[in-house]
Amino acid sequence: MTSTIGHDQDTRDALAAPFQTYEQRLKTLSEASVEQHFDAFADIDWDHPDFAIDPTDERWILPEADVLGRHPWYQALPQDEQIRIGLYRQANITKVGLQFEQILIAGLMNYAFSLPNGSAEFRYSTHEATEECHHTQMFQEFVNRSGQDVGGGSGIFRAVSPILPLAARIMPFGFFFGVLAGEEPIDHVQKTILRAGDDMHPLLQRIMQIHVAEEARHIGFAHQYLQHKAPRLKRHERAVLSVAVPLIMRWLCDEIVVPTKKAQRDMGLPKSVVKELYWDNAESRKFLRDLFGDVRMLAEETGMMNKVSRRVWKLMKIDGPTSRFRSQPASAAA
Ligand SMILES: [Fe+2]
Ligand SMILES: [Fe+2]
Repeated sequence: MTSTIGHDQDTRDALAAPFQTYEQRLKTLSEASVEQHFDAFADIDWDHPDFAIDPTDERWILPEADVLGRHPWYQALPQDEQIRIGLYRQANITKVGLQFEQILIAGLMNYAFSLPNGSAEFRYSTHEATEECHHTQMFQEFVNRSGQDVGGGSGIFRAVSPILPLAARIMPFGFFFGVLAGEEPIDHVQKTILRAGDDMHPLLQRIMQIHVAEEARHIGFAHQYLQHKAPRLKRHERAVLSVAVPLIMRWLCDEIVVPTKKAQRDMGLPKSVVKELYWDNAESRKFLRDLFGDVRMLAEETGMMNKVSRRVWKLMKIDGPTSRFRSQPASAAA
């Protein structure tokens, strides 16, 4: 098994090298996909006894890195309730993640269909779709084995899921910002949990390591794509997109992070706790802002920040400091 973190850094270094064309960077990403990729069933030993999911295992208790996990209401629950809710929540987030990936795969196919022969984007976007297929298998297998009948995203999200991939053909710039709205929060949360190094279940740890390793390329591609296309946008397109981006970010982020009504019922979350967590209290507001440090940096770089759009970022409560480099850990200050 390859070390995931080293590859992550190699890919980032290669992308950061100066004097490369967009096509060369996509070639680097494509070659990295050939060199390091994972198969949901070959690279995870699902039946290994250490990977068995025991619904009474203490390691399902939510870590401090999770907004619900560090809430006093959750921490005051009896341990068996903490475990039950912890397993349910982790299964539900996994389910939303794979629903996102299904939309992404469909969008990538729509996008690739429009590309001319010889396009470097064709090769990379199909590598990414291949990897995402493995992620959906890996995530669904985890959900199945968790024994939790989770629904994933909200009814609205599921209802519009057949339409969203069309955006990749009609307005790909907006679509790839939407991709980041899904990938950045999941990646941010997974990295925070892995960095914290708590005693987590080895199956979930393995899944997260695989995912973080491959997401580095996917997020890298979305950044490259948006930086490359931004100067080619027409004035009116830039104006509309600049306002649409923070709205897309916030909507999709809520889909991932905020438990749906069904999930709230299943977990037994009191309304007051939900309100505080999403997003009334200062700590959760900071969490929400921190999710988008990298995206704010990209929005600056791609000309998406202007007087009007800054207000929308603020209104959406996702304004804040901009990362100086990708994956910069957020500051401790609230
Ligand atoms: Fe993925
Ligand atoms: Fe991805």
